[in-house]
Amino acid sequence: MPRTALTQSVEFMDCWTDGISNQLARDVFVGLTSKQKTIPSKYFYDSRGSKLFEEICRLPEYYVTRVEMALLKDRAHRIMRYFHQGDLVELGSGANWKIRMLIDALDEKARVRTRYVPVDVSETAILESVNELVDLYPELSVMIVVADFTRDLRRLPNDGPKLMLFLGSTIGNMNTEESVSFLTSVAQCLVPGDRFLLGLDMVKPPKILEAAYDDAKGITADFNRNMLHVVNRELDANFSPDHFDHLAFFNEEEEQVEMHLKANRRMRVDISDIDLTATFEKGETILTEISRKFTRESAQSMIEQSGLEVAQWHQDPKGWFALADLCRAD
Ligand code: SAH
Ligand code: TRP
Repeated sequence: MPRTALTQSVEFMDCWTDGISNQLARDVFVGLTSKQKTIPSKYFYDSRGSKLFEEICRLPEYYVTRVEMALLKDRAHRIMRYFHQGDLVELGSGANWKIRMLIDALDEKARVRTRYVPVDVSETAILESVNELVDLYPELSVMIVVADFTRDLRRLPNDGPKLMLFLGSTIGNMNTEESVSFLTSVAQCLVPGDRFLLGLDMVKPPKILEAAYDDAKGITADFNRNMLHVVNRELDANFSPDHFDHLAFFNEEEEQVEMHLKANRRMRVDISDIDLTATFEKGETILTEISRKFTRESAQSMIEQSGLEVAQWHQDPKGWFALADLCRAD
């Protein structure tokens, strides 16, 4: 088919850029005045953060991406068997490695009738990903959505059949309450026949987990500290990132890896735009991320509480990662 005859179009919707500083200001104020200081993990991902995350995905210690990709490759045809047309809505899409495996499982006729809708706070990550995709699949339509998936789900297009995707175990970065409320909102976007593919990282030995979030080259440490660069730039703050050490450990009771930035000295930090001076004792931490690890039971309970139902459960032979193919429970 000549290129000119193709139906491809690229649309763009921005729900994020205008609001970032305001939201960040509120989140940082609340987070740094709490007893356990914290900054929400979505602020890792400016363009440098997205690049560093891609590097993490290639690290030997970070098994998550490799295992999920192998599983996706193995199950792509089974997952896409029910999808013949409509929207592929990927929440927190990041790079395009995973969606390509699913698009590859579609035949040409289905691809022409498919619109890819990546949703991410990182505009640079989406643009890079889509740039490559339109070259690889000129027949595909795309609607780029720069948005916060915890707030903006209602603004997503919802006018046809769809497969929603939330991969990379990003669901693990929400606590139990947040994840159920988020998944409940996702369930409300689904109509009968729609599916939702959810990637879940499973509980495994602490040594493996801790190495995955504290690699030998220190890329994860740089990624963690990147959040301080974002706050310095966006809120005119004077964090010295070197004065914070990367700390990652598996909290067995909570079944979650916790990532902190640990002050290696006593200090004061001025965050000018919000008129806040934060004081740190030596050893005090900022919690920057949790990454929950699931069992089939804990996943099942979260899924049921959210009004969703497992249509098909896929996992790798070692049981390290699962893809839950879900639909609305009613
Ligand atoms: N899905 C990819 C990337 C996972 S990393 C993978 O499986 O490898 C998490 C991604 O979600 C990043 O691209 C980040 O920019 C995005 N993200 C994090 N919090 C977000 C939020 N609240 N709203 C939208 N995107 C978010
Ligand atoms: N969703 C990813 C995960 O939980 C995010 C992530 C990977 C991450 N490595 C990290 C977040 C290091 C903070 C620090 O696996």
